[in-house]
Amino acid sequence: MNAVKIFQPVTLKVASMLRQISDTGTHQEGFTDSSGLPIADFASTDSTALIAFNNSLPVGAVYLAKISDDQAKGSVIISRNNPKVNVDLELAKAAVDFVYDNDIEYLELWGHGPTGFLVEAAAEVGLISQRELHEMEIPLPLENSAKFSPEVTVRTFIPGNDEEPWLKLNHRSFVNDPDQGQWTRETLTERMSRPWFNPELFIIIEADKTIIGSCWVQIHPASANRKKFGEIYVIGVDPDYHGRGLGRALVEAGLALIAKNDCAIGTIFVDVKNTIAFSLYQKIGFTDRRIDRLYVWTSPTEKGKSG
Ligand SMILES: CC(C)(COP(=O)(O)OP(=O)(O)OC[C@H]1O[C@@H](n2cnc3c(N)ncnc32)[C@H](O)[C@@H]1OP(=O)(O)O)[C@@H](O)C(=O)NCCC(=O)NCCS
Repeated sequence: MNAVKIFQPVTLKVASMLRQISDTGTHQEGFTDSSGLPIADFASTDSTALIAFNNSLPVGAVYLAKISDDQAKGSVIISRNNPKVNVDLELAKAAVDFVYDNDIEYLELWGHGPTGFLVEAAAEVGLISQRELHEMEIPLPLENSAKFSPEVTVRTFIPGNDEEPWLKLNHRSFVNDPDQGQWTRETLTERMSRPWFNPELFIIIEADKTIIGSCWVQIHPASANRKKFGEIYVIGVDPDYHGRGLGRALVEAGLALIAKNDCAIGTIFVDVKNTIAFSLYQKIGFTDRRIDRLYVWTSPTEKGKSG
């Protein structure tokens, strides 16, 4: 029998239960940082855990954090230890009821799971699908090597020199993606201060001494659930240079760099609405590894309480 219990705040004991569910999460590694939640350390006085139990075993959870007085974001995960137990609906309903009961008017909820996870349950409780983010993967090394046209210079990122021109490129290439396109100097500095940052893994291409494209790579060390792999973290080409083969060449160059760093797998996250990038990756040989879906629920005055 399934039951969902509310834990608020998230104490160390509850955090360890969340960690256990996350570590045995269906479809690989459980909670991810797509949601921007503080998943590295679940324990927090500002967070809430809604944990589904099946005969007293934790089998799934929603982890929620307030982002303002009346807004919250969260993630849903189910444990693969109990593949026959379906708790998507209980968890989705518990999340919506919790925010309703706490006068939260807007909820963003990420579903991390196998294809189809949470889709029907979300629809049933009034969570509207907003984004579909595919993590794609490709075995390495590739047979093809990157071919750049002769007028393009290929080098790596020079800290202290390239920040402003790169931000300009980032803004121009991600004009349709405000999250990425509106990065400021502070955002970039913060990312460059992360332990994994290595300018040697940040490919820059120039034409006439102007940066016109880049491919920034992150190497993820092996973890309990996953072998070492490399991710194409940010890739973009200046719109004036689209359709000339530079995007493909940058992906291939990034993947070559990943393979050179002893990774047998390369990955990339892409929004399914980004059809040009999505089909480029498919043409190169990437396939879906997981799909994260973002759902949004708004005030019950407009939508009505679930159930
Ligand atoms: C995705 C991106 C890097 C591709 O760069 P690009 O230099 O245009 O890529 P290429 O020239 O190698 O073209 C790749 C494929 O997309 C197609 N393509 C490129 N621009 C296109 C357009 N405007 N309309 C239709 N197809 C297009 C090309 O025809 C090519 O297909 P083909 O191999 O069958 O010929 C570029 O569109 C971009 O910077 N987009 C904004 C940032 C972004 O979304 N990054 C990816 C985030 S996951």
